[in-house]
Amino acid sequence: MALPPRFLEELRDKVPLSTVIGRKVKLTRRGHEYTGLCPFHHEKTPSFTINDAKGFYHCFGCGAHGDIIKYLMDAEKMPFMEAVEHLAGMAGMKVPESSPAQLAQEKRRGDLTAIMEEACRFFQTQLFSMGGERGKNYLIRRGISGQVAKQFRLGYAPSGSALTAHFQAKGFDIKECMNLGLVVRNAKTGRLHDYFYDRVIFPILDRRKRVIGFGGRMMEKGEPKYLNSPETALFHKGEQLYALPNAIETIRQKNEVILVEGYMDVIALHSAGFTNAVAPLGTALTEQQIKILWQSCDEPLICFDGDGAGRKASVRALNRALPILTPGKSLRFVFLPDPFDPDDMIRKKSPEAFAQLIKEARSFADVLWDTLTVAHPVDTPERMAKFEKDVRDTVALIQDTTVRGYYQKDFKDRLWKLTHGSKKGRVRLAGRRILPIHSPTPGLAEARMLLAYVLCYPQAAEPFIEDIATTRLPDKILNDALQEMAALILDMPEITSETVINSIQPDIMHLLSAEIEMLKRSDRETGEVSREIGRMLQQSRIQAIQTEIAQETERYLANPDPEVWENIKALKKEIEKLSESE
Ligand code: CTP
Ligand code: MN
Repeated sequence: MALPPRFLEELRDKVPLSTVIGRKVKLTRRGHEYTGLCPFHHEKTPSFTINDAKGFYHCFGCGAHGDIIKYLMDAEKMPFMEAVEHLAGMAGMKVPESSPAQLAQEKRRGDLTAIMEEACRFFQTQLFSMGGERGKNYLIRRGISGQVAKQFRLGYAPSGSALTAHFQAKGFDIKECMNLGLVVRNAKTGRLHDYFYDRVIFPILDRRKRVIGFGGRMMEKGEPKYLNSPETALFHKGEQLYALPNAIETIRQKNEVILVEGYMDVIALHSAGFTNAVAPLGTALTEQQIKILWQSCDEPLICFDGDGAGRKASVRALNRALPILTPGKSLRFVFLPDPFDPDDMIRKKSPEAFAQLIKEARSFADVLWDTLTVAHPVDTPERMAKFEKDVRDTVALIQDTTVRGYYQKDFKDRLWKLTHGSKKGRVRLAGRRILPIHSPTPGLAEARMLLAYVLCYPQAAEPFIEDIATTRLPDKILNDALQEMAALILDMPEITSETVINSIQPDIMHLLSAEIEMLKRSDRETGEVSREIGRMLQQSRIQAIQTEIAQETERYLANPDPEVWENIKALKKEIEKLSESE
């Protein structure tokens, strides 16, 4: 119900927050503020503060923050109107009557909600009835337990027009069912039928657990894979997040939320204990959704699919959030191995593997910097200047002056390091395009050893990553594996061996089992391994050059071209240089 803002302000002024919270929490006065143990998370030393003058509470432990009405809604689980009436009672005020138009609107909302609730129950019942076998089998195939199906109120929409018939039999207002996108009229026949049929149903609930929309998944291959409720009076996709009511408690407690792409990802994560997962509703992440996440957590984790589309979606989320960053509020990014989505990670790898990737989440600034550097080679003064300008223009998009100031400083430092750093660093930032002329080409035995080193000691391989990325191994499977690992390390310089192992094809482990076993037994130090990798790469590079010298010499003997001779001389010098630095 819409209340005049004046009235709410007066309520807030009249009832001190400390009085209401003091009923449940033991408070100590500290200057203008009160402190106590936070009612929203478990703690032993107080980090919860109340400021009566400003009318809000804030917890420095879990980030809970709000006014008196929010407190009653969250801590005492009162619906909004009940909280208002409760406070009005304490203040000795009367809640103003709503206008007839407001009352009518409220009533309609209630009616629409009742229709959605009825549809949800209908779908749920269908799933567990004889006709729902198909849906049930599908969920079983996807590893969803009956308990999880109940928790998420999953359902099944049968073929035909069973829901329409159900609404008609029960005397529901069919026009409103059509407005809600549940019943549609066939343009040709004029007959009414169900919008969702032969699909597994994922109900979408709002913060107060009211059903506002549905997503329906086809069980076989086909288009569209997911069909969602259209925008309706109740359902605004850009303002909702799937499973937020299931996740909100954990999000608050952990000050962490995992944002994934799909319904199935959310469900797989919740089943595996990551009960702070939510998803947007099939559309790109909106500003509003980011702000909703920030209400209960400081740095939401964006964990989209590991494929190209998922990475692009991450960059889009980054660009959407950039202008609206505020002090303390940011995003972090989790990158999954291509082409895994979180559901795959949990089922085909393990929850532990997923947890490890979460731990390796990258900061907003790091990812933003990457998106800038990947697009720009910075190997000439002009390109450096262009890069600097783009960096400046990008940072300028941040609206908050304090955050912008820190980004300016941070990126200035990075820019300095980049332009004053080693040539090697610049080549790396030039986007892995500038290949050394003589790619190392080790023999098969060395190739296997190199692969095992990189797998077990990614940190030791990191300093040589450009060389590794351009190394050509004499076997396609080994070569592909090496490229994959190099890409992972380039993406995540801090990557651990476990993550590399979890991210690559499992048969590689099998292929290299002898080498890995040997490495495990010898228990080498990272520095030592690093030197060994450097030596191997250098050896094989020398070999590659020697092969080329042999070929060029043959060419020269057949046809004494002075240019070829110059080349041979240059190659020999190169070998000398490489051998010297050994
Ligand atoms: N989506 C949609 N319409 C489609 C395809 C996808 O609305 N035609 C939305 C759904 O919300 C879906 C999400 O985008 O959950 C992610 O899509 P996708 O990655 O294709 O699906 P998954 O979640 O991986 O689903 P599944 O594992 O069932 O294939
Ligand atoms: Mn999936």
